[in-house]
Amino acid sequence: MRPPSKLIGQYGQDVWSIFSPLAVRLNAVNLGQGFPNFKMPQFMKQAATDAVSNDVNQYSPPKGLPRLRNALASRYSPLFNRQLDAENEIIVTAGANEGMLASFMAYLDPGTEVICFEPFFDQYAPNIEMCGAKMVCCPLRPPAITEGSSGQLLAAQWRIDFSELESKITERTRMIVLNTPHNPSGKVFDMDELTKLSEVSCGY
Ligand SMILES: Cc1ncc(COP(=O)(O)O)c(C=O)c1O
Repeated sequence: MRPPSKLIGQYGQDVWSIFSPLAVRLNAVNLGQGFPNFKMPQFMKQAATDAVSNDVNQYSPPKGLPRLRNALASRYSPLFNRQLDAENEIIVTAGANEGMLASFMAYLDPGTEVICFEPFFDQYAPNIEMCGAKMVCCPLRPPAITEGSSGQLLAAQWRIDFSELESKITERTRMIVLNTPHNPSGKVFDMDELTKLSEVSCGY
């Protein structure tokens, strides 16, 4: 068999292919992968059964079924406080990875850079490098541990250092990846951080 490409060959395994078999072998609790602990709702099972029985087996529109995109626009418009355009602002992908890779491929050229907050979901790195681009890390920073404090930190206490972020932005930067709630910390970025992030992004 021919070897994999130079860009991808260095990534032997990802977080799931390392930790899930390891957890099985050691009989350990697997915190590395989310497993739904609930059943699929009956109406979804029924819809899937109906689709198979009714031969709904054609390609769907590349952006996703209009009915689904319209439903998503109705659901999310109030959260964004404006009417989302189901035709031009919503796309349905088979999972986050497909959406991320498609976005990277759409916006990156060899030599460009993407800023990711560290720690980051491990599949971002090969996806960015598959485009010939470079990942630049910007660590989330915890507050200083003061004397007498318990040393315990909440996810929310890990913050973006905005001057550090700005120091990483160059003419090669094409994207900043924001993952909220953030994996692996669980941090939900607050309105203040999101506003500052949008101000920084709009400045370039
Ligand atoms: C931050 C993050 N990005 C991407 C993915 C991959 O998502 P999907 O399985 O929907 O492709 C995950 C899955 O856990 C994730 O946590």
